[in-house]
Amino acid sequence: MYADGFQDIVNIDFSRNAISEMNKKGGDKPGLLFMEMDLQDMTIPSGTFDIAVDKATVDSILCADGGARQIHALLKQIYRVLKPKGTFMMLSYAKSQLRLNFLKHKDFLWDISVETCRMFFVFDTHTDSKTKFRYTANG
Ligand SMILES: C[S@@+](CC[C@H](N)C(=O)[O-])C[C@H]1O[C@@H](n2cnc3c(N)ncnc32)[C@H](O)[C@@H]1O
Repeated sequence: MYADGFQDIVNIDFSRNAISEMNKKGGDKPGLLFMEMDLQDMTIPSGTFDIAVDKATVDSILCADGGARQIHALLKQIYRVLKPKGTFMMLSYAKSQLRLNFLKHKDFLWDISVETCRMFFVFDTHTDSKTKFRYTANG
């Protein structure tokens, strides 16, 4: 996103390690901010963001005990920190029916649209022995 010109981005994760690693990769880029924070309890003023993007964090939280309750708390926070005409984009591996029930809630006045896209991820990992592994998933 940064390379495509979106250069005022706040990235949030409650994992200190994740934030530390991301800071090493992109912390020197102006306008790119990495914050250690619980998405269910954000210390960000209401109406701050034009757009919020979830890339599989909802998917991961739903694997935990009480996941559904946690997702509602998270969505309430996202709804709060978005500007009145702000957009929430959720990228998920799940079938849309499994996410729409969270989004179609009386607490959120969202116009919802669903798009199915082909996803292509490439993760490159280097081991100590310098062997290179490539994992590719198409959905
Ligand atoms: C599947 S990963 C996605 C990471 C990132 N969105 C990406 O695409 O690389 C899920 C991340 O959600 C973070 N996470 C889970 N629950 C969270 C919460 N309540 N607040 C902040 N981060 C959370 C985890 O630490 C983990 O890094």
